[in-house]
Amino acid sequence: LLPVQAALSPTAVLYTAPVSAPAPFSVPLAQLLLHTAEAVQAVRKGRSLTEALARCPAAARPGTQALSFAVLRRLGVAEHLRKQLAPKRPPPQVEGLLLCALALLWPEGEAAYADHTLVDQTVQAVRRKAQASAGFVNAVLRRFLRERNELVASANVDPVARFNHPAWWIEQLKADWPAQWQALLAANNEHPPMTLRARQGADAYVERLAAAGIAARAVGPQAVRLARAQPVSALPGFAEGEVSVQDLAAQLAAPLLLRECPPGARVLDACSAPGGKTAHLLELRPDLDLLALDSDAQRLQRVQDNLDRLHLSAGLRAADARDTAAWHDGRPFDAILLDAPCSASGIVRRHPDVRWLRRPEDIPQLARIQAELLDALWPLLKPGGRLVYATCSIFKAEGQAQIDAFLQRQSTASSLDVPGFTGHLLPLADNDPDGPSALDGFFYALLAKSF
Ligand SMILES: C[S@@+](CC[C@H](N)C(=O)[O-])C[C@H]1O[C@@H](n2cnc3c(N)ncnc32)[C@H](O)[C@@H]1O
Repeated sequence: LLPVQAALSPTAVLYTAPVSAPAPFSVPLAQLLLHTAEAVQAVRKGRSLTEALARCPAAARPGTQALSFAVLRRLGVAEHLRKQLAPKRPPPQVEGLLLCALALLWPEGEAAYADHTLVDQTVQAVRRKAQASAGFVNAVLRRFLRERNELVASANVDPVARFNHPAWWIEQLKADWPAQWQALLAANNEHPPMTLRARQGADAYVERLAAAGIAARAVGPQAVRLARAQPVSALPGFAEGEVSVQDLAAQLAAPLLLRECPPGARVLDACSAPGGKTAHLLELRPDLDLLALDSDAQRLQRVQDNLDRLHLSAGLRAADARDTAAWHDGRPFDAILLDAPCSASGIVRRHPDVRWLRRPEDIPQLARIQAELLDALWPLLKPGGRLVYATCSIFKAEGQAQIDAFLQRQSTASSLDVPGFTGHLLPLADNDPDGPSALDGFFYALLAKSF
């Protein structure tokens, strides 16, 4: 079993199966399909996959996660096929299993199982829950296998089936990225690489990995891209805090904020949990007087756990950063990191449920919270201080449009060039010889406050 990074929680380790080899799960496939169908139906009802997987028995969780990821990356086409092949909607448990089988049988599906095994195991799973529907499901899946070529052609004319994203999401990307929208949608269905942040620098750690038989290459000053995902327990020095799991785009925040930051600077990490960027800031500059806030007390505990593993320390406080009267002691900050809550549209590769969970109205609502955070925190910044605004989103409303509007409202703010890249970071594989982009989708703005 191989671990993958959960991008919203850089140090959490989830487990997934290799996609090209038969999955070595000890739990029978029919059982895994039952859990997967339940998880997928939970996502379709609006619950996060993380929450759904937490309900799954521990032994079945790795396999269920791997299959759920594969199904959610093909849910658009699976729903299209279900409507074609079984126009009268079956009961939820049967529908869930049908969707899983259709997604996994799809020609571009990720299943490491032969067609007949998947059909047989799906029918067995249906038998356990709805004996009377087993014959029906068997007939539907066998018809799918017979008519696969024609069904592929019919699915390609339906954008939701073709791109496996909701229609509104496709339209939003078309509007925001007229030249790249198709490539962005395709990239969202790829497997992201596993990237590490090595405390002593990428080159030295690549050598340590090589000595341990793990192939990797440096992709940034501290960023190491693994050729294959590994369990963190296999990484030399992980337990000792020498290395963390963190995407390359996320690794840009700390150096950006710390440029020209004075010694012993007072720094605010306003939305800090689970602490990936907090830890990076302190690794680079242990002298910082750093306050890490998060409105979610449970997630803030993960910041503490991360800092403990890395032998770092910061002031931690559970608070809504917008409510400055409740937590601020009146002393201004030299630098503020606002890694704001967002749609997570830049990290769909790592969270394939996100596209199905979001609603179009979430985007303006999130943009409003981001604006409120910017407006509340700006007065806390010293004249001459810097604020880095970041979102792991590729929607412009949460990126450049947000910053343009802020600069209109706030006459003491100016936007500085972000060295090394311009505008949004897009998770496109264009220049990456190793396949899927090493970068998640991110937006960064570096704001300076006038004296
Ligand atoms: C994108 S995540 C931060 C990731 C983190 N900076 C890292 O690198 O690990 C956004 C965080 O903002 C927190 N949050 C949401 N609204 C907030 C608010 N009003 N005040 C403070 N934190 C908030 C969420 O609980 C979530 O942990």
